Amino acid sequence: MTRAHDGCSLSPTGSGVIDAEHGAILDLLSAMTAGAPFGLAELTALRREVAEHFATEAAEMVVLTAERRERHEHAHRSYLASIDALVDTAKRGDPVTDDDANRLMLWFIVHSNTADTELVETARRAGDEPPMISMDEWLDSLDETDRDALRS
Ligand SMILES: [Fe+2]
Ligand SMILES: [Fe+2]
Repeated sequence: MTRAHDGCSLSPTGSGVIDAEHGAILDLLSAMTAGAPFGLAELTALRREVAEHFATEAAEMVVLTAERRERHEHAHRSYLASIDALVDTAKRGDPVTDDDANRLMLWFIVHSNTADTELVETARRAGDEPPMISMDEWLDSLDETDRDALRS
């Protein structure tokens, strides 16, 4: 299995808010993959942090096309379902493994570096104003009568 710590690292998306939330989630995942025992409390804390973070991203998704938005939301739902399955395992008293935590970490890093970076970039471009184009130059090239009529 690919270990999340081996050459697979979180890149900044360019959004301060999203990157701060990613950092907090990565801290929780790092603690879980560091070899210390973890269980229901850690998984519940992760579930809460991730759900809040996905809500932050959902609010940004108005800039995406419907198809991309659905794909991103679907990925979020699948990830929450994976965490919920582990929460249920822990609630039954069954062991959750390092491999489980590692898989959560890998998904999180890959998703953040791809889908989230795309989301932030799309939002950034949507915020760029188009250049101002003045009508005056076009009017200057017209006959005086037309120009005055159009300018009035
Ligand atoms: Fe994210
Ligand atoms: Fe996301």
